[in-house]
Amino acid sequence: MRVQDIKKVVCVGGGTIGASWATYYLWKGLNVYIQDINEEALARAKTLIDSNLDFLVQKGIITTEVSNDAKERAVYTVDMEKAFTNAQFVQESAYESYEVKQKIVSEMDKYAPKAIYASSSSGLLISEIQKFSEYPERCIIAHPFNPPHLIPLVEIVKGEKTSDKIVSIAYDFFKSIDKEPIIVDKEIPGHVANRISMAVWREAADLVLNGVCSVKDVDRAVCYGPGLRYALMGPHLIYELAHPNGIIGTLHHLGPSMNSWLEDMRDWKEIPENAAEIIQEGLRDEMENNSSQEFMTWRDDQLIEILKQIGKL
Ligand SMILES: NC(=O)c1ccc[n+]([C@@H]2O[C@H](COP(=O)([O-])OP(=O)(O)OC[C@H]3O[C@@H](n4cnc5c(N)ncnc54)[C@H](O)[C@@H]3O)[C@@H](O)[C@H]2O)c1
Repeated sequence: MRVQDIKKVVCVGGGTIGASWATYYLWKGLNVYIQDINEEALARAKTLIDSNLDFLVQKGIITTEVSNDAKERAVYTVDMEKAFTNAQFVQESAYESYEVKQKIVSEMDKYAPKAIYASSSSGLLISEIQKFSEYPERCIIAHPFNPPHLIPLVEIVKGEKTSDKIVSIAYDFFKSIDKEPIIVDKEIPGHVANRISMAVWREAADLVLNGVCSVKDVDRAVCYGPGLRYALMGPHLIYELAHPNGIIGTLHHLGPSMNSWLEDMRDWKEIPENAAEIIQEGLRDEMENNSSQEFMTWRDDQLIEILKQIGKL
């Protein structure tokens, strides 16, 4: 299969992530089938996809014509045979469960043995999923960041039996539709970006639980400090630029200090039981009287401005 042969994409599962993926694939001109377990779930998916497309129009990212054309190209079905037949790419975003995903990949064998199976899974191993397919070489994780119709990153993870050719086609496919794919050579729980997010959150939460700083101020420290740079460059490049002699200079100069921070930093292997309640209390103060929905709307508005600024829109 070549990238240019990918014309029909199936989004299995039309929840938060599946509907957002479907929005993106429709926006990029692909024929998209949205498959879910019942009509109610499909109706929910359609409402989400239509409102995502309306949002893109409202923000001036796509025209009304593009949105109308995208809506007409979307096919909603519970029928796996109808969805999978003649598909080249399957983006699976069903429940986060081995049983569910293993069943889907084995069903796919019947109707689309050559299509790429790409799971959105945030934490499952593709090697465990591909065991249930007679064509394990075509299975990958293609993990997005929420919401996939706005955030460019896709983490492509290889399983034990995934072929390099499939990884390369998937990589080129995502590039061709303006995504920013990375390849994870060795599968590990949480892939790459979620592990980094978790490392940051562990420290952020620990600072609160230890009485070092309030929830609001830890969040402000991230967003008005390193967060601003992280939208532009990653942690390695940041340290490269921190010293005239690059990262070697940074680690030499700050190394002893950094080692003392590392020694003091926590290394939990489990989320402390009281973390959720204590942090929720702090979040009430941070959010004042604004709802989560208001923050999400504001976040998506600002994300669009950042994406435009860095040339991703
Ligand atoms: N929510 C996130 O922030 C996020 C981010 C990245 C990746 N993911 C991953 O995306 C996947 C979906 O997560 P979500 O948050 O969209 O969940 P969700 O619960 O919002 O949606 C899941 C959808 O899958 C459907 N479904 C369940 N079993 C199915 C089956 N056998 N066939 C077809 N459809 C089925 C459900 O009806 C539902 O519509 C998970 O694997 C998750 O790890 C989630």
